[in-house]
Amino acid sequence: MSIKSSIVDIHTHVYPPSYINLLKARKSIPYIISVPDSESLRLVILPAEDTESTSRGRPVGAEYYDTNEKIKFMDLHSIDISVISLANPWLDWATPEEAGQAAKDINDEVDAECGKFPGRLFAFATLPLSGGKEVVVKEIQRLKELKYMRGIVLGTTGLGKGLDDPELLPIFETLQEAKLPIFLHPHYGLPSSVWGERSNDYGHVLPLALGFPMETTIAVTRMILASVFEKVPDLEMILAHSGGTLPFLAGRIESCIEHDGHLKAEGKLGNGRKTVRDILKKNIFLDAVIYGDVGLKAAIQASGEDRVLFGTDHPFFPPLVEDGGKWASVETNYEGIKGALGSHTDGAEAALGGNAVRILNLNV
Ligand code: URA
Ligand code: ZN
Repeated sequence: MSIKSSIVDIHTHVYPPSYINLLKARKSIPYIISVPDSESLRLVILPAEDTESTSRGRPVGAEYYDTNEKIKFMDLHSIDISVISLANPWLDWATPEEAGQAAKDINDEVDAECGKFPGRLFAFATLPLSGGKEVVVKEIQRLKELKYMRGIVLGTTGLGKGLDDPELLPIFETLQEAKLPIFLHPHYGLPSSVWGERSNDYGHVLPLALGFPMETTIAVTRMILASVFEKVPDLEMILAHSGGTLPFLAGRIESCIEHDGHLKAEGKLGNGRKTVRDILKKNIFLDAVIYGDVGLKAAIQASGEDRVLFGTDHPFFPPLVEDGGKWASVETNYEGIKGALGSHTDGAEAALGGNAVRILNLNV
């Protein structure tokens, strides 16, 4: 297997067994419930899916927690390397007392799972955010002892006040120093009032297709407005779902900044400011989980061919009728890369794996 042509999936999740047990013990989201008249357990994680209907969560089987299933899925889809991350909502809900130990346990467990398949699995670590910033910084510093960790996965709430919270700066600085990129992933979407009275009739479509990308876009825009990328200039972020709508809206966001009288009066439009475009090309990488060449072309134009990274979102978006064959959701992302970058071109090879190997140092 030549590393240059490796296919790398950087957006792929697990809920390790210890996390599944934590969810089984809970009585409100995120939790795992058994549903009357159904054999399977259901995982309920999104506020919008905790309703008395067929869209209450999703069946949760071994593909969610067993790394052997991850490897089978990788083999079926010609994926050489996966960089696995705990799926949402991570430990956002943990009490301050339990967060630190739970993060240690999960990170150790995930690292050990990677060690069972050397060279095929790496991981983004989980942070004990509710434990407070000292506990978080300590866990980041401990990550260098874990052989397979290549960054951290983060939601948009930070310590509870969003990612523009100045209290997060020491955490961002520690990540910058440790050269660990943030894989930023949505969970909370938009307030359910946005989806209207009939939203229960529409399954998970509105929160997943629109709520998730807007959440990511808003979170990063707030970081830009809070000058996070000037204060922590080498902070690196990989944005899920090709940055939500950030590539498409970058020009409009930049124009609104440039025309804002309040920002001008506060002296925030001076020389040292990084533009949205600067940040997209210096601090941000975008995954290619956008299911189409038009969105992917926007991502490439915004950040560059050398900054987009293939992903699958496994085990989410399985075929509704399982036949053991390839997943349409994965094939669509392969097609999107082919449509935007061609087949077997340098750009396509880079997006499929070369960029990930370089950015995440997987060439070991
Ligand atoms: N739904 C989720 O809750 N998370 C994902 O990553 C994808 C779909
Ligand atoms: Zn995901």
